[in-house]
Amino acid sequence: MEYKILVVNGPNLGHLGKRQPEIYGSRSMEDVAPMVDNLLQGGGDSAQLTLFQSNSEGGIIDRLETSREDGTHGIVLNAGAYTHTSLALADCLAWIGVPCVEVHLSNVLARSEPLRQKSYIGRHVIGVIAGFGILSYALAVQALVLHFQDKA
Ligand code: DQA
Repeated sequence: MEYKILVVNGPNLGHLGKRQPEIYGSRSMEDVAPMVDNLLQGGGDSAQLTLFQSNSEGGIIDRLETSREDGTHGIVLNAGAYTHTSLALADCLAWIGVPCVEVHLSNVLARSEPLRQKSYIGRHVIGVIAGFGILSYALAVQALVLHFQDKA
C-alpha cells in the first residue's frame, strides 16, 4: 500500500540547510524522500510525501484541517516555535483525527531555553522524534507506516 503522508513545517523552517546549520543541520527537505525510500525498502509499503510550509499559525491549521478530507493517512509535523506556544494548533490536532508524529530537527529537551522543553501539541500526537536533523522527518514517516502496518 502507498500511504499518503503530509509533512508540515511551521515558522522559520522554509530555508532548512541555511538557518543556523550548527543547530538545524545543513541538509534540506529535498533529502527526506530518498531517506524514506531507504528506510521503507523491502517492507512492502511505500509513502507518498506532500510537503507544506507556512510561517503563520492559521496557514498551518488550514492545511491540517484540509488533511481530513484529502485522503491523507498521516501527518509529520514540525511546528517550530508554535510547538511551545500554540493552544490553537493543539486544539486543531485534538479534533481532526489524522494520526500525527511531532518532529524536531534539534533535540529540544537538550536545548538551553527551558521553554523549548514544553510542547502544547505533544498530548495530541502518537509520538515524538527529535534530534536527528532531517533524518527526524524520515524516521517519523517510517514510524507512521510501521504504526499503520501494526494496526492493520
Ligand atoms: C524546532 C525546535 C523549536 O524549538 C524551534 O523554535 C524551531 C525548530 C526544531 O526542529 O528543532 O523553529 O522545531
